Amino acid sequence: MNFTTIIEPFRIKSVEAVKFTHREDRERALHEAGYNVFRLHAEDVLIDLLTDSGTGAMSSAQWGALMQGDESYAGSRSFYRFQDVVRDLTGFAHIIPTHQGRAAERILFHTTLHAGQIVPNNNHFDTTRANIEVEEAEAIDLVIPEGRVPAALHPFKGNMDLGALEHLLAERGDRVPLVMVTVTNNSGGGQPVSLENLRGVRALCDRYRKPLFLDACRFAENAYFIKQREPGQATRTPKAIAQEMFALADGCTMSAKKDGLANIGGFLAMNDPAWAEACRNLLILTEGFPTYGGLAGYDLEAIARGLEEVVEEPYLRYRIRSTAYLGEKLMAADVPIIKPPGGHAIYIDARALLPHIPPQQYPGIALVNALYVEAGVRGVEIGTVMFGLHPDGSETPAAMDLVRLAIPRRVYTQSHIDYVAEAVIAVAAMRDRLPGYRIVEAPKVLRHFTARFEPLR
Ligand SMILES: Cc1ncc(COP(=O)(O)O)c(C=O)c1O
Repeated sequence: MNFTTIIEPFRIKSVEAVKFTHREDRERALHEAGYNVFRLHAEDVLIDLLTDSGTGAMSSAQWGALMQGDESYAGSRSFYRFQDVVRDLTGFAHIIPTHQGRAAERILFHTTLHAGQIVPNNNHFDTTRANIEVEEAEAIDLVIPEGRVPAALHPFKGNMDLGALEHLLAERGDRVPLVMVTVTNNSGGGQPVSLENLRGVRALCDRYRKPLFLDACRFAENAYFIKQREPGQATRTPKAIAQEMFALADGCTMSAKKDGLANIGGFLAMNDPAWAEACRNLLILTEGFPTYGGLAGYDLEAIARGLEEVVEEPYLRYRIRSTAYLGEKLMAADVPIIKPPGGHAIYIDARALLPHIPPQQYPGIALVNALYVEAGVRGVEIGTVMFGLHPDGSETPAAMDLVRLAIPRRVYTQSHIDYVAEAVIAVAAMRDRLPGYRIVEAPKVLRHFTARFEPLR
């Protein structure tokens, strides 16, 4: 018999209570938080879809592995286990643990970039962009045109625009020290990149002699989309596909808080021995000795086990399906979302949902705040607040104003997701009453984390 219900590929051994609050409590909490949900106390949130980063549930095998952690300062057994797993997966020669993804980015870019240089990517994530701009270099997004249109359907909307990349390399290649591709493309809707596209980027990198780095945070979700959607890939394992993705690159940055299924950690990996040595020297300065890189031995164990679990097919089938499930409910209610649903999150097109709020009155913030006040659900703005501010202090509308509902791995059940869908549909029904916002105070870099807002009445 062939049953069609896709079930959670786990049973629950330990639970954590969520707190139910009243609307007035949430209004007060949001006001005190400067209308920025990053500033809320997490226990005042009922269902937390702020991020899928570091918020997943570890397996009993991972918790067990913690006890195997070897906390030796140098050369710990846990490092070698971690290195073996990462090397088996990526094939890269040099594996450098870091405390999370952005530490890998900072070390890579501080080592390889000079002022005035350019790093192309399909879409840079906010920390990637910030770590490039802090070196006074330029971060350029070259995703295919379909990747910029929320309603456009394309199986690999995260693909790099190969024509645009070639143009950049031909015209200004002397200023490009490396090319990056983000899999899946978080800022562009969690959309995958095809193997064919990665091969195309590789060919251009070979022609112009540029190293290719993956921003590999969600490599396993990307590999599963390839298996599902790319001709000729259906019978391969997600791990084999992931290995081919990595084999097309010269290195990667990785946040193990996503597809490492761990609550903290990351790594930088590469083949070039000279760059690796320079990166390790900086690592020692800011993160720690190269065999722990700011992590405990037990973290290295949890990541090693997580990287093995994340490529298991039942897990990925459930993971991708549960995100699509939320997307389908919202689409059925005509809530505009990025289509097709991505791997780790649903992205609501707040600009389309709230046409009465111009981008510089932050429709994404308006929708995020209403979702919290009405339902206790926390999402995040990915739009003009996150990407609209330029290094010279000017602000322009971001390419899109989105609200991301990121789904933590193995944390919420189907009824939680049913509740989220009901909440979004209810807030969409009161869209005309939602106000825009203005910024009251904000830092100059990564302002979305700490800015304070005020509703425009
Ligand atoms: C695509 C992408 N790159 C890099 C990062 C940075 O990773 P971390 O939060 O571990 O510093 C993230 C985190 O959300 C991400 O989604």
